[in-house]
Amino acid sequence: MRKNIVAGNWKMNCDLPMTQTLISELKKGLQTDYNCEIMIAPSHPCLYPAFNSTLDTPIEVVAQNVSEQEKGAFTGEVSIDMLQSVGVKTVIIGHSERRDSYGETDELLAAKTIAAVEKGMRVIFCCGEHLDVRKAGNHVSVVTSQIEKGLFQLSAAQMEQVVIAYEPVWAIGTGETASPEQAQDMHAAIRSFLKDKYGEMTANHTSILYGGSVKPANAVEIFAKPDVDGGLVGGASLDATSFLAIADAF
Ligand code: PGA
Repeated sequence: MRKNIVAGNWKMNCDLPMTQTLISELKKGLQTDYNCEIMIAPSHPCLYPAFNSTLDTPIEVVAQNVSEQEKGAFTGEVSIDMLQSVGVKTVIIGHSERRDSYGETDELLAAKTIAAVEKGMRVIFCCGEHLDVRKAGNHVSVVTSQIEKGLFQLSAAQMEQVVIAYEPVWAIGTGETASPEQAQDMHAAIRSFLKDKYGEMTANHTSILYGGSVKPANAVEIFAKPDVDGGLVGGASLDATSFLAIADAF
């Protein structure tokens, strides 16, 4: 079901003491009446302590990545079962940093997504174009192709477990944000693409988040757009006050 979500992607920034400090600052600043789900994505070693420290809060702890393999000789990988065993129910898949720096292909991301969904996980599936693609005017076709290759093996029922995060690569960590209109145009294009494949109900049930330099100063305007259902927030999620101000934008 379509929900407003604000998710903090902490990337590789917080060790355990930093994770604990940030969570206690979040707990101190947390109000009772957010009009959105609030998620944080600490690094793998900190997931279990983060899960335990947020049990008494509305904050959901999610993972930044997962293996497509079930178990066995995959040195350095983390499985879906492992995430679930420490309380994680949602995983980010296909962040552009995974695609670009770790060579994660559409095929691999499709395998990760189906494996996670089949085990009952919710998936935040990331997509987004590079600057040259946008300049050439090919952003919609590139993003819809990422969605087609990564998600369209799922059934309409399985799509209920998927949240899409549109993150233009040129706006990630750069301070440059897509304008609310650019975000809305892409989100509407994604929703109509979902409608063509799965029908109106699935398209309307899918939360589509925007990511790329979301800050308290721009969140209200971006989240006000009809097809924007929240944000995947990097830099600004590392500061409890700004992250909660973004959650407050709804
Ligand atoms: P940013 O990162 O908010 O620092 O641009 C967003 C993301 O990579 O998810």
